[in-house]
Amino acid sequence: MSGYSWFEGIPFPVMWFQKEIVEDIRNMFVVKEEDLIILTYPKSGTHWLIDIVCLIQTKGDPKWIQSVPIWDRSPWIEYSNGYPVLIHKEGPRLITSHLPIHLFSKSFFSSKAKAIYLIRNPRDVIVSGYYFLGKSNIGKNPESLGTYIEWFLEGNVLYGSWFEHVRGWLSMRKCDNFLVLYYEDMKKDTKGTIKKICDFLGKKLGPDELDLVLKYSSFQVMKENNMSNFSLIKLDLHPNGLNIMRKGTTGDWKNHFTVAQAEVFDKVFQEKMAGFPPGMFPWE
Ligand code: A3P
Repeated sequence: MSGYSWFEGIPFPVMWFQKEIVEDIRNMFVVKEEDLIILTYPKSGTHWLIDIVCLIQTKGDPKWIQSVPIWDRSPWIEYSNGYPVLIHKEGPRLITSHLPIHLFSKSFFSSKAKAIYLIRNPRDVIVSGYYFLGKSNIGKNPESLGTYIEWFLEGNVLYGSWFEHVRGWLSMRKCDNFLVLYYEDMKKDTKGTIKKICDFLGKKLGPDELDLVLKYSSFQVMKENNMSNFSLIKLDLHPNGLNIMRKGTTGDWKNHFTVAQAEVFDKVFQEKMAGFPPGMFPWE
């Protein structure tokens, strides 16, 4: 069973963790105004958002997303293979991170750099995480979904408590340089969400260009793109590569949770997310 590397109570994936990097990010890393930061709790649709943003930058031309691995286009700042790339990269950077707000670069909070925070129904995050993280050697492997739900509710999964992650980053939601998106809205109205991202980034795309972004970021196309689907990452348990493109749907948790698990989850959700205005979370 693989474990975690812990930093200030947050579990990180052992294979990409270096304590000095996580410390440096908070205190030393300087965010540039022209950087764009993609923030998510794992399994919320991170790779989908990265591909959309890359395609917006190229006005729908798929060459970049088809020739450069996703982790080189928008490196994970907290990973030992991402940080060195980012600190040496000149010009505007795409930066991906799963870090909770209190571990993120202090320089971001006084910068005009833009960030997008993508949120997904935590029940679907659980199911997605169970199949991906729970069955890989990236994190701890639970014996059942029930165990994984328990760990999730305790915050004993990669990147810690979903509730604290979301609460923390949502404190930025009124800032002009911070856009909050929901996976559920992206699924319901992908084109509308792409336009919203374009507006936020100040990018003007014509109707044909928008259609290209839509086409090349679709689940089917991404599933077949080796530069986005993680098949290049070969691990001991996965000699043929990992696969992050599982189902790409909303509400799959209903096929997995028992009634009792759903009730326990609801209770914890109500307690931990109390205080947000009604309608804050599109799935509730
Ligand atoms: P499922 O496991 O529910 O299928 P992340 O990128 O944060 O690891 O999230 C992975 C989840 O996003 C997976 O969910 C994956 O299928 C989904 N996803 C990836 N690309 C997608 C796309 N183009 N459209 C819809 N969902 C997508």
